[in-house]
Amino acid sequence: MPKAINNKNLYIGTLSGTSADSIDAVVVEISKNLNIICSSSIKIPAEMKTQILNLANKKTNLKKFPSRDLIELGEDFAILTSKLINRILIRNKDLNFKIRAIGSHGQTIQHFPTIKNPYTLQIGNPSLIAKTTGIKTIADFRTANINHGGIGAPLTPAFHNQFFYSKSSNRVVINIGGITNITRLIPNSPVIGWDSGPGNCLIDQSIQFFSKNKKQFDKGGETAKKGEFKKLEKVIRLILSRKYFKSGLPKSQSIINFNFTDIYQRFKNTKKFSEDDWVSAMTEITAKSIANDLNKFCNVENLEIYLCGGGSKNKYLISRIKDHINSNWKVMNTDKLGLDPMLVEACTFAWLAKMRLANGKINLKHSTGANPSRLGDIFK
Ligand SMILES: Nc1ncnc2c1ncn2[C@@H]1O[C@H](COP(=O)(O)OP(=O)(O)O)[C@@H](O)[C@H]1O
Ligand SMILES: [Mg+2]
Repeated sequence: MPKAINNKNLYIGTLSGTSADSIDAVVVEISKNLNIICSSSIKIPAEMKTQILNLANKKTNLKKFPSRDLIELGEDFAILTSKLINRILIRNKDLNFKIRAIGSHGQTIQHFPTIKNPYTLQIGNPSLIAKTTGIKTIADFRTANINHGGIGAPLTPAFHNQFFYSKSSNRVVINIGGITNITRLIPNSPVIGWDSGPGNCLIDQSIQFFSKNKKQFDKGGETAKKGEFKKLEKVIRLILSRKYFKSGLPKSQSIINFNFTDIYQRFKNTKKFSEDDWVSAMTEITAKSIANDLNKFCNVENLEIYLCGGGSKNKYLISRIKDHINSNWKVMNTDKLGLDPMLVEACTFAWLAKMRLANGKINLKHSTGANPSRLGDIFK
């Protein structure tokens, strides 16, 4: 438990990423530095996860034409978020928190920033969160970025720049969620963040597929480690030859573009590969796409690589990334910079809430193309 809490600077950040595994929330004191007070997560129930994935696969514009089930899911998601927040507040009631605001990312359902009429859609009814927690809630950060000419993602580079930048070190931050995003913090070159491609999405989908949903992810990368990705070299090469992996920066990706079942259906008859081989190949695609971007866009001496997100726990994945990069580069987790790797994203939305209340502009010009702008709407 932290020593002293300045109750004036307390914010809550909450989100569920593209993995749709759980809603995470953090209470953090934000001044010049960050002081994490407490955090908690709540698992997204299987039924809700299925509803999220079903809606995410719809081709219609759900933002313009919200269906009844989308609205209901948004309310259910908001109630689950409030339950998590209220649970944190009750558990810590002795500390008498005065939370200034909640920064709520919600759950992404659709993200189409480069079509003719671009849009992004996150559910999690912020008015309902404000009502059920009694705390001002800031949301719709990505929409604001798109409205200012950006591609709506990634938003974390602004936060990484604020808290992880060092004038004297070459750093990158790699957040391995459903998708992987990388932020380059190299002095004398622009701070820029982008999505390298898959994070845990292909690995998770392959594990879920073979276990018929009994297992959700490859703990520690143990299954991938048992397999032989080399047998599926052709599949790996084919996926990595996609245009996205060759295009320049900035760029952002949607989970919808990585579908394990499609890949499997296409190749399953060519040769008999074991389930472990398949998971191993999905891990190798992920590792190589991350390593390739580091080699291409961050090729400097003494690079310090800081990992965060659930994928940082996949030991085998990390060992595969290391195998493809300069052996002099240092690879570690963000806890070396004082921030729990599982809480970096939630802290980002707490900080964005603080910035919005202060009417501060967020500069993501190099990462998203948006002009510096205020992000998020306030709901109370
Ligand atoms: N112990 C672990 N070993 C391997 N992978 C893990 C482990 N813990 C979490 N993960 C991976 O991290 C994912 C969740 O990461 P998270 O950062 O929450 O992603 P998102 O932001 O997309 O929700 C899980 O779906 C899983 O793939
Ligand atoms: Mg998550």
